[in-house]
Amino acid sequence: MEVMIVSSSDEVAQVAADILRDMLLHKPACVLGLATGSTPIALYGELVHRYQQGEISLREVQTFNLDEYLGLQPKSRLSYRRFMSEHLFAHTDIEADNIHFPECAAEQDPRTVGPGYEWAISNAGGIDLQVLGIGANGHIGFNEPSSSLGSRTRVKALAPRTLQDNSKLLRDDETQPEMAITMGIGTIMDARRILLLATGEHKAAAVAGAVEGAISAMHPASVLQAHQRVRVIVDEAAASQLQLREYYQWVRRKNDSIASQHGGSADDDPWFHKTVEDLD
Ligand code: F6R
Repeated sequence: MEVMIVSSSDEVAQVAADILRDMLLHKPACVLGLATGSTPIALYGELVHRYQQGEISLREVQTFNLDEYLGLQPKSRLSYRRFMSEHLFAHTDIEADNIHFPECAAEQDPRTVGPGYEWAISNAGGIDLQVLGIGANGHIGFNEPSSSLGSRTRVKALAPRTLQDNSKLLRDDETQPEMAITMGIGTIMDARRILLLATGEHKAAAVAGAVEGAISAMHPASVLQAHQRVRVIVDEAAASQLQLREYYQWVRRKNDSIASQHGGSADDDPWFHKTVEDLD
């Protein structure tokens, strides 16, 4: 796990956008796993800006979002498809057919969505880079505490803490969705590279649990410690409960000095080198 502590939430977005840009340059037809929520909004704004500047293109990219609410009215303001369209997709050159959500059609049995989504991810070649936020209770996607660490895409009832956090975003006339379809923890762990983003003091305990706590289904993000290529990008506030804060900053300076001596482009960065799975 590489922990990158930066000074502000804006810098989290900049650093994450640099990594996504490098991914897009390294592999223009890459498969991205994407998250919704307040954390990645600034990242998506930055990607739109870079697209408008001609720095990046999403033309060949395929995307798989982590999750979608179940039981929403079509075109609901709360839908994650709509969120992604407003914050990213509608402002770029991504092809509509390349955008995927674990959505349930009107008459469909929601339990059949997961296996189809897993198939689609695998058919696309697997996720090259997965962007994650983290819930205050340690959830990733909607894998709430106690989710199996090997879980796959499936229906999940939201935890009380998540319902409480999300209720702040509801308007008076809106009903809180209580279930979602989410990629499983096993699905997320299959991604070749993972970026976990967190900002603000309200995420500090969750980040500490993810990076330095025991691996446990009670804190789903902690499983990322067992992944080969995770970058955790946090601002000072979200990093404030990390015990090894100074060590992570020292490691980063050391790695940066190697990059400046031996080349800092995506092609020189081991993060982007082929993984064993790419060689299959
Ligand atoms: C969103 C998702 C969630 C969020 C998490 C943090 O697709 O899967 O796990 O990443 O709830 O949400 P924010 O960023 O709103 O604090």
